Amino acid sequence: MAAAAAFFCALLFISVQHGVLGGYTRNDFPADFVFGAATSAYQYEGAAAEDGRGASIWDTFTHAGKMKDKSTGDVASDGYHKYKGDVKLMTETGLEAYRFSISWSRLIPSGRGAVNQQGLKYYNNIIDELTKRGIQVHVMLYHLDLPQALEDEYAGWLSPRIVEDFTAYADVCFREFGDRVSHWTILAEPNVAALGGYDTGEFAPGRCSDPFGVTKCTVGNSSVEPYVAAHNMILTHAAVVRLYREKYQTLQKGIVGINVLSLWSYPLTDSTADLQAAQRYKDFTYGWILHPLVFGDYPQVMKKAIGSRLPSFSKVQTELVKGTLDFIGVNHYFSLYVSDLPLAKGVRDFIADRSVSCRASKTDPSSGQQAPTQSMGDPHGLQLMLQHLKESYGKASSNDSVDDTDRVDYIKGYIEGVLNATRNGVNARGYFAWSFVDMFELLSGYQTRYGLYRVDFDDAALPRRAKRSARWYRDFLKSKRQPLQIAQL
Ligand SMILES: *[C@@H]1O[C@H](CO)[C@@H](O)[C@H](O)[C@H]1NC(C)=O
Ligand SMILES: *[C@@H]1O[C@H](CO)[C@@H](O)[C@H](O)[C@H]1NC(C)=O
Ligand SMILES: *[C@@H]1O[C@H](CO)[C@@H](O)[C@H](O)[C@H]1NC(C)=O
Repeated sequence: MAAAAAFFCALLFISVQHGVLGGYTRNDFPADFVFGAATSAYQYEGAAAEDGRGASIWDTFTHAGKMKDKSTGDVASDGYHKYKGDVKLMTETGLEAYRFSISWSRLIPSGRGAVNQQGLKYYNNIIDELTKRGIQVHVMLYHLDLPQALEDEYAGWLSPRIVEDFTAYADVCFREFGDRVSHWTILAEPNVAALGGYDTGEFAPGRCSDPFGVTKCTVGNSSVEPYVAAHNMILTHAAVVRLYREKYQTLQKGIVGINVLSLWSYPLTDSTADLQAAQRYKDFTYGWILHPLVFGDYPQVMKKAIGSRLPSFSKVQTELVKGTLDFIGVNHYFSLYVSDLPLAKGVRDFIADRSVSCRASKTDPSSGQQAPTQSMGDPHGLQLMLQHLKESYGKASSNDSVDDTDRVDYIKGYIEGVLNATRNGVNARGYFAWSFVDMFELLSGYQTRYGLYRVDFDDAALPRRAKRSARWYRDFLKSKRQPLQIAQL
């Protein structure tokens, strides 16, 4: 297929939620492959009520006591005040790129209308600081934190009105920051945003309906809303990419893409039913988003299973959304086993109303064997995932200790998986460790830590301290010729 062939040229950016081997060095990757780390606005910045920032749906969600540990991102890692020191740490770590997200409600407090000059200044300062230090700037426009004003006005992602407001916000970002930004990711994990926010209710805005919610929700409809929200996200993505391409790309020379949660799925057995179930799982989790953006429509299997609850693209919309990716960001944390289930009985993590009719679990229910694996990640799964994306379309371990040997192994393994995929012809172009510093985590507050740098949340000064993983990453990035086992461990 021509579209598929063209898609082979799409770049892949891999982001893993953290992180021994010998035998590879930084030099085994092409010079233009970048190694970075990432954060997101609500999880990192804090300063939630400072300098004119408007509330986002995450402020509302956390202040309603929705986190298990009752925490909020009011202070988080205090990146709003500490960004300068953090960029200095990035330089010391040898990061080649940094990806952060912009808080829409810090820049445009009510979601639409006047720009907050202090918000503008904050992002200009970070970008200048990175540029000055030669760190490539990757910006995520949206990481789950919709301005509360738009949620109140028209239920945010459930309304097509979001397309126009988001595009106007993106226009401000491109215009103000685009001269220094090389990579724009429009949306973070729209599949997770749709499911967490509208199916399970675990993420803001916390909507769901029985029996699908993981938490108790007062409003929502898990059978319908996840699909509506994702549909509006896809239309928004497309409109924003078209805006960038028409108005900015020639001049600014950046590239635009998306980022999706894409766990690898192994069929539990060799049976045809399980093989098909594993494929359905892929179609329902990331084909849901990627298939429209490449081919202009949802995967056939989704249309068939979901029927009229799945919104459809008009002819005009199909043309609009098709081909709106310069790169795909692949978020991979671990892999799953998938087995077939009769329709309606399917229960699983992460699939809207279980139309997928498969069971995905982290353990093999017959032997009790862990899927490879949640705590250590599955580097080989990432390699398979990357190869699968190339063919189809052209969280893991947290450690409280600064001595996070397990995460060192995780990151090492993932980088090896990426290297193998590259050697097998995948056009992977970057790797971002999640996260640069410990932050407020969306599922667990401050109870899990994924940073390369430890943040002491008990100390009001929120000091940073390099973990073993930060030192390993630094040694790797600075090892131009040495095999990795020489790096001090
Ligand atoms: C969800 O919406 C569908 C379609 O409108 C409706 O049939 C169903 O009853 C709704 N479910 C809930 C829990 O409101
Ligand atoms: C990478 O490839 C080597 C050689 O084929 C293999 O031994 C190793 O297990 C692979 N690593 C991953 C993470 O897939
Ligand atoms: C953190 O890593 C160390 C070293 O690998 C390990 O001994 C410890 O159990 C880990 N802690 C947690 C909470 O996973």
